Amino acid sequence: MTGDKKSVVTPWEVSGAVDYDKLIKEFGTQALDLAQLAEQKDAPPFIRRGLYFSHRDFPQWIGDAEKGKKVSIVTGRGPSEKMHIGHLVPFIVAQYFQKKYGCMVYIPFSDDEKFFVKKGLTQEQVAAFAQDNMLDVLALGFNPAKTKIFSDFEYTKIYKYAALIAKKTTFSAAKATFGFQGDTNIGFIFYPAVQSAHIYMPQFLEGAQRTLVPIAIDQDPYMRILRDVADALGFIKPGAIHAQFLPGLSGNAKMSASEAENDVIFLTDTPEQVKKKINKYAFSGGKDTLEEHRKQGGNPTVDISFLYLKYLFEPDDKKLAKIEKDYRAGKLLSGELKAILIEKVNAFLKEHQKKREQAKKLVSRFTLT
Ligand code: TRP
Repeated sequence: MTGDKKSVVTPWEVSGAVDYDKLIKEFGTQALDLAQLAEQKDAPPFIRRGLYFSHRDFPQWIGDAEKGKKVSIVTGRGPSEKMHIGHLVPFIVAQYFQKKYGCMVYIPFSDDEKFFVKKGLTQEQVAAFAQDNMLDVLALGFNPAKTKIFSDFEYTKIYKYAALIAKKTTFSAAKATFGFQGDTNIGFIFYPAVQSAHIYMPQFLEGAQRTLVPIAIDQDPYMRILRDVADALGFIKPGAIHAQFLPGLSGNAKMSASEAENDVIFLTDTPEQVKKKINKYAFSGGKDTLEEHRKQGGNPTVDISFLYLKYLFEPDDKKLAKIEKDYRAGKLLSGELKAILIEKVNAFLKEHQKKREQAKKLVSRFTLT
């Protein structure tokens, strides 16, 4: 550890420098085979290029999917704010696998969770964010015959399933996993049973099967606690693939609007906002002066514009390699690199915002009742 800033990774807090190898050990997960993922030429760039780094039972899920057995995906969204580009990552994974294997995808919106956890938020606010966030998720183009979305406050039947899990989960197990304190509200304490119910939905509704949960690594504590009740329910332990956090524009470990509005690119930002944010705030691996940069070159590994291209916006390996090479050589300047990213982000957002509008008519077709 660097020692300067304490590293914290829980479902409610991510801060300090994150050591991902250490998390694999601490959480008891497995490292993903990155060389094998790099070969999946049809996969989203962030899968091929190592943003997903850890898993639980992923090979078993892929194995069943490849054999044509019934498999499913669950991934959700805690609707506490407008969505930014980093939030799309697990949903892009879900959409990719649905296209590839034709599997069911369940997408819960945990308005209850955010109501319990975030001090200032009212029930009306989380409900409004859930409605808004659904549009961003559906804009990705899920198959309406194979995708179910719901929010906990609306789909109250979830309570029955959460109760089955709650009865099998002790307070000491939950406390050990989540660190609850005497002043934690009891909604918060019950919520892990609800998220567990989300993840068992395919099995509750369609019988035992392998389910994959694409999540950022901070959500793994839920996996640990819910996998323990699989046997008691007669189900198969759900698996997971874990992503690193997409860094914020400033280079913060996790892109988060609750930290700073200017650290994130919202899916509803205008072209001007995107241009201004990237030019002004995107951390650069370039040198301070033009002469130095030309001579010594830039460092793409810490450059936020390069990282966003790598993980999201430049799927073409040859083009990315050329950008990297030119930047290291000092041929490509920091401002020019930013200009490439700005153009890509704005092209993506233009399409996304159009589909987001169209999604308004689709919500009811996807909603679980
Ligand atoms: N707790 C998740 C978050 O804050 C959202 C979520 C709800 C979720 N249900 C889920 C994620 C099921 C994965 C699977 O982002």
